[in-house]
Amino acid sequence: MIDLSVLAPDVANIAKEAGAYLRKSQTNFDRNLVELKSLNALVSNVDRSAEKLIVSALKLLIPEAGFLTEEGTTPQDTTKQYLWVIDPLDGTTNFVHGLPIFSVSIALLHHGEPVLGVVYEVGMDESFTAYKDGGAFLNGSPISVTSTKELKNTLLATGFPYYEFSKLQGFQNTLAHFYQHTRGVRRIGTAAVDLAYTACGRFDGYFEYGLSPWDVAAGIVLVREAGGIVTNFENINVAIASDSIIAANKSIHPLVYTTIKQHVR
Ligand code: IPD
Ligand code: CA
Ligand code: CA
Repeated sequence: MIDLSVLAPDVANIAKEAGAYLRKSQTNFDRNLVELKSLNALVSNVDRSAEKLIVSALKLLIPEAGFLTEEGTTPQDTTKQYLWVIDPLDGTTNFVHGLPIFSVSIALLHHGEPVLGVVYEVGMDESFTAYKDGGAFLNGSPISVTSTKELKNTLLATGFPYYEFSKLQGFQNTLAHFYQHTRGVRRIGTAAVDLAYTACGRFDGYFEYGLSPWDVAAGIVLVREAGGIVTNFENINVAIASDSIIAANKSIHPLVYTTIKQHVR
């Protein structure tokens, strides 16, 4: 097994370098260069260039590892013992519209289990890192999920559905419940940062459906290492290949799960 404590700072540096490229590219970014992959799924040459930069640097760290990347700029071989799962730019819509919250998300899986996660939030220059049994950190300082026990004292985060509307009514009803029983619900536009903010206690919990592995793989490690619980909408502790997620501290997770179960079919 690779020494994750040695690997983590190198991966964090690679995420930071990609972040610096994204930051520079956002200035004077031409919105006309955006392409549509599918309904409301934006992509640009910036996403692809950032991914190539990350992939070539990671190849030097573990030459035998496979890749699962959002933009598919390198062959995708998910059968390898070690697998990098990468979203080079999480929050593309924010990026394209000039909003300052977007991130780089890099996870390492070992036999399918996420064991290392790095989320670099570009706007605030915040590096979130965690590896299995090593704890979670923000810019080098330990972080943990909140200890909030009651829903009425929570700030929750979510992502609004934007292409998969099958659960829309149940989702709206869930939100209606949380509007009335929490301090508020945020939609900041990057799932990786939603999870990082849950790990460091800015959010008490986060839920969303319609996600891909690269949106959540790194953030799952962060939340678990910060003492939180991560499951899907069925309350199953799946690794990354589930399209729904609930992440929260131990007290709030069951309350969020129960509400979703009541409303979302
Ligand atoms: C998106 C962001 C967003 C979430 C979407 C993701 P992208 O990723 O994480 O917060 O709501 O489901 O697809 O497209 O910006 O990499
Ligand atoms: Ca994403
Ligand atoms: Ca992306």
